[in-house]
Amino acid sequence: MLVDGFGRVATDLRVSLTDRCNLRCSYCMPPEGLDWLPRPELLTDDEVVRLVGVGVERLGVTEVRYTGGEPLLRRGLPDVVRRTAALRPRPQISLTTNGIGLGRLAGPLAEAGLDRVNVSLDTLEAETFTRLTHRDRLADVLAGLAAAVRAGLTPVKVNAVLMRGINDHEAVPLLRYCLERGYELRFIEQMPLDAQHGWKRDDMVTADEILGLLSASFALTPDEPASRGSAPAETFLVDGGPARVGVIGSVTRPFCGACDRVRLTADGQVRNCLFATEESDLRAALRAGADDDDLAARWVAAVGRKRAGHGIDDPGFLQPARPMSAIGG
Ligand code: GTP
Ligand code: 5AD
Ligand code: SF4
Repeated sequence: MLVDGFGRVATDLRVSLTDRCNLRCSYCMPPEGLDWLPRPELLTDDEVVRLVGVGVERLGVTEVRYTGGEPLLRRGLPDVVRRTAALRPRPQISLTTNGIGLGRLAGPLAEAGLDRVNVSLDTLEAETFTRLTHRDRLADVLAGLAAAVRAGLTPVKVNAVLMRGINDHEAVPLLRYCLERGYELRFIEQMPLDAQHGWKRDDMVTADEILGLLSASFALTPDEPASRGSAPAETFLVDGGPARVGVIGSVTRPFCGACDRVRLTADGQVRNCLFATEESDLRAALRAGADDDDLAARWVAAVGRKRAGHGIDDPGFLQPARPMSAIGG
């Protein structure tokens, strides 16, 4: 088992398959992109499946989420999913994506064994989308969402980061859009994980503000606390339910105490937290011929060093060197 010094058990493995992306969301990376990881440094599909297998078959991982950058850019994704679904005990398999390409890939991924998807969608306005992401791809994202439902990748969850003066007037339209289509919308507080290091606490639209914006148009009732478990999203019934909306208040309402996550980067480093400042190099061990016992022992040790929380409010807080796009959300 992957247990840390505070007794938390990591069962949710988040695997980044690439640091590349076909969008340039301003809260994530600059318009010119970043220096991508050189290909030889990326885990191969076989290496990904081997490490995920160690997590699932030896270390108690029950949920595997593939992320990026943009994981749909990874050509071998359907095959990686198929091989993940063949592990025993079979893990839950999900994907966090910007939705571009899902129109074409939702069917094959579902067939390969993908259970569900989370799609980022911050705006419904084509102009705002282009301003925010530097690409004119809103229609592709919306088509991707619809394809995900058709392929049965449900519940389809939608992630929206609100930014002051950019898309914070869209909280209500976004929720209406998702309610009409059966998508489960979650609003996310912006975290200091952008490559540009431009995050400012005062610019962040807080969970309280988001709930205020929504309450003007909807009656929100807190969901059963017991239903939350270790999920980052606090959920609310909308107008009495059954539809729900979530708020992920990573900064003002941290959920680190219940964290059940561990991460593997595209270049094979274990990160015990989104905000970890140290990593553990499983790729080097694997390529040096380590056996599964050895890999598992290194992984256990890495999780054992996990800190209590993200420390964003601590005086000496340092943003991790790796940006969100290279960690996986
Ligand atoms: P499900 O609800 O099970 O689908 O998972 P999820 O909400 O964790 O998945 P997703 O990848 O869609 O992440 C949604 C948001 O939660 C993103 O902004 C993530 O960065 C944030 N998030 C995910 N894991 C963590 C974490 O360990 N710590 C913090 N602070 N935020 C996280
Ligand atoms: N803060 C909060 N959420 C972020 N995401 C990307 N960067 C940030 C950030 N700095 C979100 C994306 C995606 C999920 C993986 O994380 O919008 O939905
Ligand atoms: Fe790409 Fe996701 Fe970063 Fe947006 S948030 S640029 S979709 S990796």
